[in-house]
Amino acid sequence: MELSEHTKSILGLELPTDPRWVDLANISLEAILTDHAYCEQKAATTCITLIQRYSDREKLVTELAPIVTEEWGHFRLVLNELKKRKLKLGKQRKDEYVNKLIGFQKKGGHPEERLLDHLLTMALIEARSCERFKRLSEGLPDAYMRNFYRRFMESEAGHYTLFIDLAETYLDKEKVRKRWKEWLAYETEIMKEIEVRGDRIH
Ligand SMILES: [Fe+2]
Ligand SMILES: [Fe+2]
Repeated sequence: MELSEHTKSILGLELPTDPRWVDLANISLEAILTDHAYCEQKAATTCITLIQRYSDREKLVTELAPIVTEEWGHFRLVLNELKKRKLKLGKQRKDEYVNKLIGFQKKGGHPEERLLDHLLTMALIEARSCERFKRLSEGLPDAYMRNFYRRFMESEAGHYTLFIDLAETYLDKEKVRKRWKEWLAYETEIMKEIEVRGDRIH
């Protein structure tokens, strides 16, 4: 399958590998699918929150409304895979990664800067999902699951570019680029912390 331009551009990001997903052989499929299911659920609810918060931004509302449906569809696809295998949707684990990202968002300041950080947080989460799904699409033992994750990888790459595009709709491109670099540097630090403590999904 040919990689879309979106996927290529996101892979060009070269995010550092998430240490939680290196040792795939020792992570159960149930844990992978459960973690994935909650990621999709959170993506859908965060898009709803953004629509509520920025209801006056027409393009944002128009573009994110179908993403809510898409992410919820992803959640259902994952649930279906669990069910097919008689596996259970486990409990949601505390997502320290996302919490740390939220901690980096500017709380005060200009509303435009808060909007920028909300959009870049989502862009980063989508980029990270894409990186994770790429790893799963290459490293899982089962061919069906590798293909399953390849499709997700392409979809999340499209979302990453959508959030960057929205940021560039409402803010100066140079400002977006500068802040995005800060986000990438911060995310690299988070990854190192996770690695040090060995916070892995099992
Ligand atoms: Fe998704
Ligand atoms: Fe997504």
